Amino acid sequence: MSKSSNPFKLAVIVSGNGSNLQAILDAQKNGVLTSKTVVVISNKADAYALQRAKKAKIPTCVITSAQKTKTMFEQELIDTLSLYQPNLIVLAGFMKILSPHFVKHFAHQIINIHPSLLPSFKGLNAQQQALDAGVKIAGCTVHLVDEGCDTGPILIQKAVTVKKNETLESLTKKIHKIEHISLIHAIKLFENNKACVQTHKTLINKGL
Ligand code: GRF
Repeated sequence: MSKSSNPFKLAVIVSGNGSNLQAILDAQKNGVLTSKTVVVISNKADAYALQRAKKAKIPTCVITSAQKTKTMFEQELIDTLSLYQPNLIVLAGFMKILSPHFVKHFAHQIINIHPSLLPSFKGLNAQQQALDAGVKIAGCTVHLVDEGCDTGPILIQKAVTVKKNETLESLTKKIHKIEHISLIHAIKLFENNKACVQTHKTLINKGL
């Protein structure tokens, strides 16, 4: 099937700046990715990522969790995603933890980008955790989302050296750069049907 008649569809879920979203949109625009972003969903109305999506003429949707139970919030997400029928859901700086119910609903269809070399430094402030631990190598991970927090099968990891005088700002900037490359790489695997989960923890990347 040609790219235009039946593109691989992405839904991107964000909460903030959206530099990873921008990397995806740029890669789609310049043909590095063949997929199409069909919707960008944010749980924050003021997320700059929404402006990036609008500039690229991608449909956007704001679904906040204010005055909703987690079940209600996630049902709205499921209903919206179902309208767009994405092949892959990319969590690109989405700052909420999804329930097992949501994850099961889209089993093996959700990926997340995290600013550490998992399984080290899960959760919030991963770069600061790495600095506090005094590691010499830091990095990022793209993984499939499972029922845990930052625990799913690992797809792509890239590392950076932590210099003696590294600050939170400089490390965050360095990691962002490799995140953008890693995320595109991971999406490419799905576009080319080269990612598959063989066991709960193992991901086989054919052709990497
Ligand atoms: C990234 O560091 C990502 O790893 C984490 O949130 C940050 C989002 O950055 N989950 P941006 O909004 O894509 O610029």
